[in-house]
Amino acid sequence: MTQRITKAVIPAAGLGTRFLPATKAMPKEMLPVVDKPAIQYVVEEAVRAGLTDVLMITGRNKNALENHFDRVTELEYTLEAKGDTAKLQKVNESTDLADMHYVRQGDPRGLGHAVLRARMHVNEQPFAVLLGDDIIDERDVLLTRMLEEQEKRDASIVALLEVDPESIHLYGAAAVEPTEEADVVRITGLVEKPAKEVAPSNYAVIGRYVLKPLVFDILEHTHPGKGGEIQLTDALMEMAGDVEGTGGVYGVVFRGRRYDTGDKLDYIKAVVQLAADRDDLGPEFKPWLAEYVAGFDRI
Ligand code: G1P
Repeated sequence: MTQRITKAVIPAAGLGTRFLPATKAMPKEMLPVVDKPAIQYVVEEAVRAGLTDVLMITGRNKNALENHFDRVTELEYTLEAKGDTAKLQKVNESTDLADMHYVRQGDPRGLGHAVLRARMHVNEQPFAVLLGDDIIDERDVLLTRMLEEQEKRDASIVALLEVDPESIHLYGAAAVEPTEEADVVRITGLVEKPAKEVAPSNYAVIGRYVLKPLVFDILEHTHPGKGGEIQLTDALMEMAGDVEGTGGVYGVVFRGRRYDTGDKLDYIKAVVQLAADRDDLGPEFKPWLAEYVAGFDRI
């Protein structure tokens, strides 16, 4: 009998050097996207999909992450005394969200190495991995769909997005063949960050995975790959090639809204899009934005 998946692993040990100096003393995961740290969107997504046990893989300088998901009694007390229930609710949202656990990565040896640090906590059940740079719009369903496919196929599942071939070098790229489901493909090959000339397709792996625990055995012997790092992509490539032994790897093709907060330009776009969509900010922000953009013609 298959067990319901409850565990989500969120690698968050990266140094965030693209956002220096903002990330000199603060984790990049705490950068606000409108008014909420990027990492909270990701934990909320896991919880919406029923994954209430969250393990974060952290490192030095990441204490703010633990504090964000913990109580802050002086602030609660002050807001309570003022009777400011709206703000109190905002403070408590992240505290009450999930059952949070933390482990440090130690040496930063790549995403595959970070995921391997989850082994003791996850044990022998399938689990999800959510990368903090990707935010999936809460109106679009991705993780739930991936969990369904994992249960149905007893395989490992990655999220795929069709990207402009010019950007495929930023992602893991998948060679795929169709299945009986329109939004699901079987993965026959994976390459980490290929040049566009050698990319097997323009299907990019985005930061959501539902993995069988066998991935840990494979990561134990995965050699450093691209950039000298232990790549999750390489371990998944091995699993894709041995369908008998591993159940194979499938991709759920996502066609919804995804925001990338991983580099400066994409981060700015994410903030603008999410702010424009908000009921409390959009009505004032959008006309201002339209006027501001119209002004570009005059430059
Ligand atoms: C990681 C993975 C890559 C994947 C990407 C998705 O790369 O190694 O395969 O496509 O996440 O965001 P990173 O962006 O951490 O360098």
